[in-house]
Amino acid sequence: MKIDAFLTPYFPETESQFDDGIVVMIDVLRASTTVCAALSNGAKEIIPAESLEKAVKIYSGLDRESRFLGGERFGEKPEGFNAGNSPFEYNEEQVKGKTVIITTTNGTKTFQKAKQARLRLIGAFVNRAAVLEFISNELQQFLEEDKEPKITLLCAGTNGRLSYEDVLCAGLFIDSLCGRDSNCHTSDAANAARNLYISHKNNLKEFLYGREHAVFLKKKGFEKDIELSFTFDKFDVVPIMEGTSIKNRNLDK
Ligand code: MLT
Repeated sequence: MKIDAFLTPYFPETESQFDDGIVVMIDVLRASTTVCAALSNGAKEIIPAESLEKAVKIYSGLDRESRFLGGERFGEKPEGFNAGNSPFEYNEEQVKGKTVIITTTNGTKTFQKAKQARLRLIGAFVNRAAVLEFISNELQQFLEEDKEPKITLLCAGTNGRLSYEDVLCAGLFIDSLCGRDSNCHTSDAANAARNLYISHKNNLKEFLYGREHAVFLKKKGFEKDIELSFTFDKFDVVPIMEGTSIKNRNLDK
């Protein structure tokens, strides 16, 4: 198995490096976590939009009863939106059966990448086990096709810069995948993420609480969101980006 990682969202626009591989897109604080919460609470689908204007346009074209508009700029709910980017706002009462349109500063831009990949998953600490189980089933498919599996982790970061929580989450996935495969080849970036995760895994939460984005969100009063986002396996969902929307693949289980 080959594993690569992009630790910030800037990389060459020729995306053929994703061809026929599995891509896991990570924005722990908070877009990936919020997507997992919304799907776990029964949202029909989630449409990530790269701008406020685009999100409002998509929302306006949908049926009133079955739409929900969420997102953030500078961590706050945009004016006129139904919700901000707190996973707690995407509860069953609000989102069940609905199409959720969401736009965030970094995460929803990353979710638009790697369109040529065989599979695009949204990963976070909250759905760690579900994603790993899903990938291990998919690996069988590569074997049947006599192909070497290729997995790439994409970190959303913050404003183009590296975010520790995304890199350590990528490192966790890489460490688990390589732990199950003695023939695992990691790129330098993937190896760096893995090593960083290993060196912090015994005090992961405490370490991440002190990093930039968690400190920013804490100042804004989002402590509960941080706590939830740093919790392992809270949601048994595998969000898959297909075409323009994200759906939960684990429903079929
Ligand atoms: C983002 O996409 O930039 C984030 O999810 C920001 C946040 O709401 O914490």
